[in-house]
Order: sequence, then C-alpha cells, then structure tokens
Amino acid sequence: MHLTREEERMVSGEQGHATRKAMQILVALGEIYDADRMVRVSSVQVSGVSYKNLGDAGLEFLSDLARDGRARVKTTLNPAGMSLTGWRSQGIEKGFAEKQLKVIEAYRKLGVEISCTCTPYLAGNEPSFGQHIAWGESSAVVYANSVIGARTNREGGPSALAASLTGRTPLYGLHIQENRVPTVAVDVEAQLRQPEDFAAMGYFVGKAVKDGIPYFRGVGRATLEDFKSLSAALASSGGVAMFHFEGLTPESGLGATGLEALTFTKKELAETDSTLNDEGKPDFVSVGCPHCSLTELATLARLLSGRRVKREFWVCCSGEVKRRGDDAGYSRLIERSGAKFALDTCMVVAPVEELGYRVVATNSAKACHYLRNAGLRVRFMPLEECVAEATRSD
Ligand code: F3S
Repeated sequence: MHLTREEERMVSGEQGHATRKAMQILVALGEIYDADRMVRVSSVQVSGVSYKNLGDAGLEFLSDLARDGRARVKTTLNPAGMSLTGWRSQGIEKGFAEKQLKVIEAYRKLGVEISCTCTPYLAGNEPSFGQHIAWGESSAVVYANSVIGARTNREGGPSALAASLTGRTPLYGLHIQENRVPTVAVDVEAQLRQPEDFAAMGYFVGKAVKDGIPYFRGVGRATLEDFKSLSAALASSGGVAMFHFEGLTPESGLGATGLEALTFTKKELAETDSTLNDEGKPDFVSVGCPHCSLTELATLARLLSGRRVKREFWVCCSGEVKRRGDDAGYSRLIERSGAKFALDTCMVVAPVEELGYRVVATNSAKACHYLRNAGLRVRFMPLEECVAEATRSD
C-alpha cells in the first residue's frame, strides 16, 4: 500500500502515540481490503459511544488515545447509552451514567464534537456529493451514500475514530465509483404511503439482498423521512450500505440495466409488517429511530397537542433538531403531554431492557430488529398509531 511521506511520519510515531495507533489500524484495514492508497476524508461520524456496547475495554482504548490524539476533521458521535443531561429522569443507574460520562469526556479530549446522533446530516455534519467521509452508524452510511452521494464504507468504531485522528481512510469499497453500481433491481408495486412502509420494504429487501446495492423502480416520490426509514431498515436486516432510487437519488443513472429483479407488492408489505409484531400490550413507546427530523417533531406536536401520555413515551432526536423544535414551538407541545425527549440516545443503545419494560411500540423496523435481539417484544406501527398507543387509557 502506497503511503505519502506525511502518512509515513504518522505511522512511524513522529506525530504522537494516538496518530501512530490510528494509522496502524488504517494500514491494516487497507491491506485486508487491498487498497492501493489512503484518501483524505472531510467528515467523520463515530459509532461505539454507548457504554452498554463499549464496556471497560472500550473506555480504556479511548482514554489511551485521548492522551495525545486530536480530531483532524469535523467529527461527531453516534447516540450514547443515555441522555447526557436528562439521564436521571430516564431511570438510568448512577454507575452506568458515570462510565458513560467518562466515555464522552474522552471523546471531548480528542476534539470530537459532542453531538450524539445517528442523523448527523440533520444536525450540522452534512457532507456534499462526491466527498469522501468515514461514518460508522449504519443507517447514516446508507443515507450518505445513497441520498447525498457522499462516499463511505460501513466503518467500525475504531476505524472511524482512526480516520478522524489522521484525516484519512483506505481507498476501497464504496470510495471507488465502480463499486457503487446497483447489483439487484426491486420493482415496487406496493403503494408506499408513509415512512413506515418504506421501512417495511427496506426490512424485506435488506434480508433478501444482504450486502448488495438495490435499485428501486416504480416509486415517483419519497420524502427525507421515507429515505431515513428505508436506510435504517436496509442496514439492519441486511448489510446494505447503499441503494439507488430511479430518478430520485443522485447516482441512480449508474449502470441499472440487465439486473436480476425482486418484486415488492402489497403482499410482501403486509407480511413484513406482521413479522415485526409480537403479542402483548406495549408498556413503552418510542419514536425517532433514526433520530427525528424537524418535520417529525411538527407531526408529533400536532398529534400530542392537548393530550396526555399514559405510558413512558420517548422521542429520540439530536440536540440540534430539538433546539429547532424549541424555536418552532413544537417541543413545548410535546413535553406538555408528558412525552420525554431522549436526546443524545435512543431506545436501542440505552439499557431499556434493564429499566423493566417488556413490550415496546415503535415506528422503526430497525428498532424492532435490535430490541428483539435484546429480549424485548415489539409492536411496529405508524407514528400516528404510536401516539394513539401512548395516550390510550387502559
Ligand atoms: Fe439511531 Fe438508535 Fe435507531 S442509533 S438508527 S435511533 S438504533
């Protein structure tokens, strides 16, 4: 693998311990994937933030790098295991909170912006078309590659952080144009009316195509929320890192002919909906996976206005989108209903299973997938029904 003189200095240790360690990680990765060289990145998003996933070994790794490491490009974080300011009202244990705050402190020392969100593209970390980036959160990776046209592989926590500390990533995979062409077509015959329908389609297609690049045909329009839900679902049931949407996404002209095709009809839509529903009455309701947009906050404010929630209801979003919701008057209406903002965190990376809940209602196929893996039962329903569920009296 060819390294520039500066990259050689990084790996030799001339630029400090953390830079050397980071460059060693990237060189090893580049060798595994046969990369010829490194490419500069303009934005990083680091996953591996929740203490629930990192544990003490992860905290030690970060503290070691924080001795002399420094982010060289704009870097933000994935959600943490709790709301950084409101963890007490979430019922989080003090011991967990102390460890989580140490993790955040290590990132702060590294010069990382403490913006913990899986929708960085809605909160100030917004790459442009064609830029090379290194993002970790799988749903954001799919969104960035597909909807924005930026270029990133699905980074793990250490490789994304290494990209931040060096400003580089190995040039392989989706950084290379020829690897971004679709591998399978999906003819969409079902009527997709809402983001949850896109989520169900993503869940079905992700399972079928695994790490392929689907090319969706037959849908004339899609909103940001539709694409956000689709991206998350594709990356949870499968290993998808990019999709194309005929006429709607910026690289949809890349070689979409002669592909094998799947069909997604109302039958697959109904079947997928039903596979995402378990038995039981929800005792916890959560929306915002991936983190809510301002449009979703507006919808929630309208639906919750003048009502009271009867069970725990989390609205997961970034601090930045919440601030915009404050300015628009949405946050007040949401909080007045008794719903809680879960800022910097979400129902999956927080230790919800340890808070005593058993059945979670959510509008996210991705959340259903991971909450089930954590031993909870799930109910998948549209946003409006989540609000109805949360405000139901019995
Ligand atoms: Fe985001 Fe948590 Fe879902 S990190 S994509 S809200 S699982």
